[in-house]
Amino acid sequence: MRMLVTGGAGFIGSAFVRSLLSGTGAGTGDTRITVLDKLTYAGVPENLAEVAGHPRYSFVHGDIRDAGLVREIMPGHDAVVHFAAETHVDRSIDGAAPFVSTNVLGTQVLLDAAREQGLGRFLHVSTDEVYGSIPAGSWTETSPLAPNSPYAASKAGSDLLALSYHRTHGLDVVVTRCSNNYGPHQFPEKVVPLFITRLLEGVKVPLYGDGRHVRDWLHVSDHCRGLELVLRHGRAGEVYHIGGGTELTNEQLTGLLLAATGTGWDRVEHVPDRKGHDLRYSLDCGKAATELGYAPRVGFERGLADTVDWYREHRAWWEPLRRRAAERATASAAGGATAPAAAPAAEGATGPAAKPAT
Ligand SMILES: NC(=O)c1ccc[n+]([C@@H]2O[C@H](COP(=O)([O-])OP(=O)(O)OC[C@H]3O[C@@H](n4cnc5c(N)ncnc54)[C@H](O)[C@@H]3O)[C@@H](O)[C@H]2O)c1
Repeated sequence: MRMLVTGGAGFIGSAFVRSLLSGTGAGTGDTRITVLDKLTYAGVPENLAEVAGHPRYSFVHGDIRDAGLVREIMPGHDAVVHFAAETHVDRSIDGAAPFVSTNVLGTQVLLDAAREQGLGRFLHVSTDEVYGSIPAGSWTETSPLAPNSPYAASKAGSDLLALSYHRTHGLDVVVTRCSNNYGPHQFPEKVVPLFITRLLEGVKVPLYGDGRHVRDWLHVSDHCRGLELVLRHGRAGEVYHIGGGTELTNEQLTGLLLAATGTGWDRVEHVPDRKGHDLRYSLDCGKAATELGYAPRVGFERGLADTVDWYREHRAWWEPLRRRAAERATASAAGGATAPAAAPAAEGATGPAAKPAT
């Protein structure tokens, strides 16, 4: 299968590409991959260093919103695996424009190109956040969408657009919605890598509100396996949930991260809650289990320990990212022309007020 992978230099996209080309993915032998990535602040070329010289891999530096470029490079591929997105909820609260532009309009550009060339399969990667918040029980794939953050609303818009291209144009679209991913190579603004890197640096971590918000945690390698199952065996026009099976409050997660880094609660600073913060996400993954045989394999305890070890051993990967983020935040606070509009104001490498995100 020849795949065009958008956003392949990001956290999950790069794990997907590495798994398919390094032999752990099921369809490895016949897989050719082109990555299309704009290399925003979240796109890290080093994430793909391991496959850079692979004979069945190529990289295109570009924007999914560039219709001319997308039309030029999509022919010759059987499938699109669409990860590219603006993904950080706090940034979407600071400024929604890049989220609507990339997540909704960018998806439309890809869908149009796919329709024009009669693409075989379009896998749209989405999130449990499109459903809003659920106090008890779990969402199924037919639960109504009720997103609360601009990020989640832009993802819900792109999901519906993708499904509409199946219903209207007969495009072979499948949509996945997953829970919170964790693992190596995650940009250190999301809660797990943010907390690990700050704890390793010896600075405080910020815990939102009362810490009672509940998330389900999914190891990125389980997510990638689930995506490959959906890509190869999912039914056109269907949505599939991919979860990890470990629900934790943010307070519980923080306790585990403190223990894993040998630190204590004196390192935790309680900060005012995020605006519109969803209390709980929970996916029913029965459909993917029954139809595709999906089940998570990485136990949370082991997955988290491995993740902490990875960050401990890869300071050269994350320290420059933290430094650049701090410089952007400083420039943004000073009204600098080079700072991206949506950069959080408090993303400093050493300051106490960095924003956590789940
Ligand atoms: N990380 C999670 O826990 C999680 C959970 C649910 C769903 N998702 C979804 O999975 C996908 C991947 O998430 P991630 O955490 O790997 O994201 P990420 O922020 O780590 O990476 C996003 C990638 O997209 C690229 N990109 C952004 N805008 C682009 C554009 N206009 N054109 C081309 N490339 C562009 C970036 O350079 C980056 O490489 C997203 O669609 C996200 O909504 C993520």
